[in-house]
Amino acid sequence: MTQKPQAKLLANYQPPSHQVEHIDLVFDLSPQHTRVTAKYNLIANNEQSYIELDGVDLKLITLKVDGQVHTDYTLLVDGIKINSVPQTFALEIETEIAPELNTSLEGLYLSDGAYCTQCEAEGFRKITYFFDRPDVLATYKVTVIGDKEFPFLLSNGNQLDAGELEEGRHFVTWEDPYKKPSYLFALVAGDFDKLEDKFVTKSGREVKLQIFVDKGNLSKAPHAMTSLQKSMKWDEERFNLEYDLDIYMIVAVDFFNMGAMENKGLNIFNSACVLANQETATDRDYHVIESIVGHEYFHNWTGNRVTCRDWFQLSLKEGLTVFRDQEFSSDLGSRALNRIDAVNAMRTHQFAEDAGPMAHPIRPEEVIEMNNFYTVTVYNKGAEVIRMMHTLLGEQGFQKGMQLYFERHDGQAVTCDDFVNAMADATQTDLNQFKLWYRQFGTPTLHVETYYDAEARTYQLDIKQTHATNDPISEPLHVPVAVELLDEQGQPIVLEGVQLKHGRVLELTEEAHRFVFHNVESEPTPVLLEDFSAPCLLEYRYSLAQLSHIAKYATSYYARWEAMQILFTQQIRTYVNAEAQNGNMFSELSSVLVSLFEHKPDDLAILAEYISVPNFDTLSGGYDVVPVDALCQAIKHLELQIAQLLEPYLIAFYTDTKDSGGLSAEDVAIRALRNKSLYYLALTQVDVSAWLCEQASSLNMTTKLGALSSALNAQHALSDAMMQEFDVQWNHDLLVMDKWFALQATSPTDKCIDVVLSLYSHPCFDKSNPNRVRALVGTFTRSNPQQFHRPDGKGYELLGDLIAELNELNPQNASRIITPLLSFKRFDENRQSKMRAQLERLAAISNLSDDLYEKIDRALN
Ligand code: TRP
Ligand code: ZN
Repeated sequence: MTQKPQAKLLANYQPPSHQVEHIDLVFDLSPQHTRVTAKYNLIANNEQSYIELDGVDLKLITLKVDGQVHTDYTLLVDGIKINSVPQTFALEIETEIAPELNTSLEGLYLSDGAYCTQCEAEGFRKITYFFDRPDVLATYKVTVIGDKEFPFLLSNGNQLDAGELEEGRHFVTWEDPYKKPSYLFALVAGDFDKLEDKFVTKSGREVKLQIFVDKGNLSKAPHAMTSLQKSMKWDEERFNLEYDLDIYMIVAVDFFNMGAMENKGLNIFNSACVLANQETATDRDYHVIESIVGHEYFHNWTGNRVTCRDWFQLSLKEGLTVFRDQEFSSDLGSRALNRIDAVNAMRTHQFAEDAGPMAHPIRPEEVIEMNNFYTVTVYNKGAEVIRMMHTLLGEQGFQKGMQLYFERHDGQAVTCDDFVNAMADATQTDLNQFKLWYRQFGTPTLHVETYYDAEARTYQLDIKQTHATNDPISEPLHVPVAVELLDEQGQPIVLEGVQLKHGRVLELTEEAHRFVFHNVESEPTPVLLEDFSAPCLLEYRYSLAQLSHIAKYATSYYARWEAMQILFTQQIRTYVNAEAQNGNMFSELSSVLVSLFEHKPDDLAILAEYISVPNFDTLSGGYDVVPVDALCQAIKHLELQIAQLLEPYLIAFYTDTKDSGGLSAEDVAIRALRNKSLYYLALTQVDVSAWLCEQASSLNMTTKLGALSSALNAQHALSDAMMQEFDVQWNHDLLVMDKWFALQATSPTDKCIDVVLSLYSHPCFDKSNPNRVRALVGTFTRSNPQQFHRPDGKGYELLGDLIAELNELNPQNASRIITPLLSFKRFDENRQSKMRAQLERLAAISNLSDDLYEKIDRALN
């Protein structure tokens, strides 16, 4: 490492030196010589005779101060210092950039021939010199000049002007009347198919909606359009928030580092998060697209109208917007299923992040590369923290808080504290202790003990909270704990003698609490931390009988699922501890599994979740040293046992139902349970060949993939042929091929690693495309533990090689895929040393990016 990058600290925040009210931008597009002219007036906030602007990889052409060429400046590594300037002045800067050579997918770049931008977090500085920080808010006027082979020249806001120019060129001018920080700037130029529709807001304004997709993809755009209209309607109904411009555009591009970006009035999306039709997209894809379209739309208020003061406050907009998109999905679909999804994300990814070297509070205090902090902690735990406020204040109180937040801060760049203060003030609630959630990191644990006193007919709950040893906060947190007590018949007991908040919520503010419930006739079964009311680990010695009671009777379907998960986890633990992969299933577990099929819940999608075993990553969180091989075998063993136990039920269900090909919740649920059935049946002696073939030739992608993944997982004789056929059928559609790459990467055989390596030269594969990399290598490292953690270290080597290559090409993507290597300390000595060797080798790269430096440094030191 040449020079150690310096971390920025939240504690060192300084307001900007100058204000900029308005910026005029002109882009003259060309692949290697795009000219960008920026004009803006600066007003000093304090007496200062110089300015420092951000700028990276820019070629300076001209610099004028108040109309005069200005030569008194110094170029810095990541900016420019302009000396001898007055208190207020007009700046004009012309720079040149080369979008075609920009492979970082940040700033202005070419995606398959179309120009597009990505400015969050700090990409605007790759476009021109400016205050590239979220607390400098300005209105933008943008003129885009390009060849007519790019018929669409787009930027934020409303179109002002357009016209022809010489030499086959034309221009369009856009104006965005709302002040915004530079990270929300966007520009797109290209040739697209356009889907157009409209939305009439509750106050009667008509908004034009446009979705731009690659030529030939128009038939895959309607689902995103419907999702957008549903989002607009929902935000009016639930949050009383209306859209503010006359036009809303979404552009789908193939080369994109993340899911999507909320640029004002001009969202740019990863095409994987827009395009869908029945033949190419799974039911899961449909769901994800709807929620991401919603997420970006909801940012218009939570992110754009009110934005972040600095990037340490990222969760202000992301935690809140994830909470909003989760509520959107829950109001439109199944609340229980969405909760299961959200909790799975927390337990599988966030708990692991919180226990690893990159652990940080939802409001980080120390950052080297901001791109490294778009994390499950900031997003998903951030949303859980917002959800806890919602739980404590109730829907009405929460909405009052939102209203006050907008009254106070519309048009401003603010902090997480400002948000909590609005919630507290609007409801006259003291949330000072609650604010610790923004500073604390590591997953807190709730230790629960219960005592039943038959004579006094009381039931006592003792709850103690403890914190991870490296956690900077040792004071107790403010924790809402939802509980339900079930009687012997499975009926909920009326809770008496204890103070409750909004429903069944106990409030913890001390390190230890004792709650005593009165008039309890017999020893009840406690449902604790119902609906995951706080992002904590729960330590309570549930008996198997209690768990099966909860799985059958809890009011909340989420709680039933959770009880099943604990049962599976205990079962797998027993197998791992016994080092016997041929043990018998707990009778409590087998009887509850059978009873689930004897008395099926109305929602069959929930049933499919009930019978799903927790994945490797979730389970491995329970071990200091992850027993890779034993754990993989125990999961396999349990899955086989479940399959054998449920065989007659699964066959009956499978043969009694049909995939209608429809998209209703019921159709989707039937497909989910049919696929789960096939997955299990493929493990048994039952001959599933005909079913596999039938599903594989289906025109519905969910059904088709269900066959392929079942066949592959069971190493069925048909799987190779099915995979080959899929390749032939779909190699014209790269997004569909991503599903195929991902399947290849999950193959349980020892050949998998060679298959993955050989796929680098598949005609559809491209290392510079993040979707391809994530599908093939991301899936291999995250979802194929047995093969990734091969004792010979070849899995680690594969990942190390790729990261070394991506370090230069696309540092942001390189840094995303390194995660599985960072937690090397949790593995046995052999694996640990081989993982560490890859990190050390990467650390020695001479031009290591800041992104990788920060993670590797934290992991090794
Ligand atoms: N703000 C975006 C969202 O949450 C995500 C985002 C952050 C992003 N940085 C990015 C997207 C870089 C693409 C590239 O919706
Ligand atoms: Zn977001």
